[in-house]
Amino acid sequence: MSILSLEELKAGMVLASDLVASDGRMLFRAGTALNERHLELLERVGVARADVETPATDLDAETLLAVEGYVRDFFLYVNPDFDPCIHMFRVAMNLTAQNVSRGWELPDQGIRRAADVEHLEDIFVKGMGDPATIVRHETELSSFPDIFFRIKEVLEDESASADRIAKVVSTDMSLSAKLIKLVNSPLYGFPQAIDSISRAVALVGGKELSTLALGISTINYFKDIPPELIDMKSFWRHSITCGIFAKILAGTQHGLSPERFFIAGLLHDVGRLILFKKLPYASSEAMLFARENSIPLAEAELSVMDFIHTDISVPLLRSWKFPRGLADMINFHHNPMEFPNPLDPAVIHVADALANAVEISQGGMYVMPALDEEAWNLLGIDAESFIEDAVREYAEQIDVIMSAFF
Ligand SMILES: [Fe+2]
Ligand SMILES: [Fe+2]
Repeated sequence: MSILSLEELKAGMVLASDLVASDGRMLFRAGTALNERHLELLERVGVARADVETPATDLDAETLLAVEGYVRDFFLYVNPDFDPCIHMFRVAMNLTAQNVSRGWELPDQGIRRAADVEHLEDIFVKGMGDPATIVRHETELSSFPDIFFRIKEVLEDESASADRIAKVVSTDMSLSAKLIKLVNSPLYGFPQAIDSISRAVALVGGKELSTLALGISTINYFKDIPPELIDMKSFWRHSITCGIFAKILAGTQHGLSPERFFIAGLLHDVGRLILFKKLPYASSEAMLFARENSIPLAEAELSVMDFIHTDISVPLLRSWKFPRGLADMINFHHNPMEFPNPLDPAVIHVADALANAVEISQGGMYVMPALDEEAWNLLGIDAESFIEDAVREYAEQIDVIMSAFF
């Protein structure tokens, strides 16, 4: 999980990926625990660096134990015997240990449990509003950006030419600028720079690019949420992380368009944004409740409000006439197997779990929601080989993609 130079390698470290000599010769397989003899050999054959699982061996036993306790707290709701969960746990452990060895301090119990946070005076009264009323209030008050509907129109028009798509998207300057940044990011990994929307349409595809544009214009709608309520940067980081994992997961399945999954991942918690706008106290209360009681956020929402954020996204996306496929993935990300065709929402569900697992290492505040085992099994992927590779790919992409958006 971390590339170290030969001088930094120590006996006992475990290779995270196959180690190959400069002439292509396989030296050691991933999973090999390096010993002194191996290290001598690496020096002899001139290997300069290796990808090892944990560079955190400089952490003393006590700190490692504290890291493990910290991560374990977040995995309270996760089945410890389910193979993918074991791998997610390992990933979270490794990343957290790495961050701690770089100087990051584990948040203490007081912070994790929000012990010193003052509760808001004006507590929302349960039953004050049902999801449909809350959404109606929102959609009556503010209109959704016009560009969204124009893009949706071309997206739904099978015969829309690449030219027309490029024209519609180009009418919004800030949208086009973000799109250009995004198609030049590692999300696509095109070798050459793409400098115009029409070029982007040609390379990425009209449908894919309009789906991206749709996602970006939805994000813009929420740019005014006050920072006192939630750190929007970490909200979007979680969303983009989920999008990246959704795209990677979609790539393992036959016939799924990765862009759609990136956008569904990006917007999976859109219901929470309406809650911040409409029920700021109740949603802050739910976040505190989750931390104080070490329960997943959705459980806390249910206790505080009697519904969860996907109950809000259902009427919301319906009233915005969001493309059905995208809306279904978002609406069912907490209960994918209840959707008649569960594969699509299962991808978002698993991506959300992976996003949560990697965020633990940076002080993510909520307990991991349970991973739906049926949903994981539906994807038919091998946890052992998939999870660590996917996390590596995510680590390479997240900062650049974040900067394309903000
Ligand atoms: Fe969610
Ligand atoms: Fe989420």
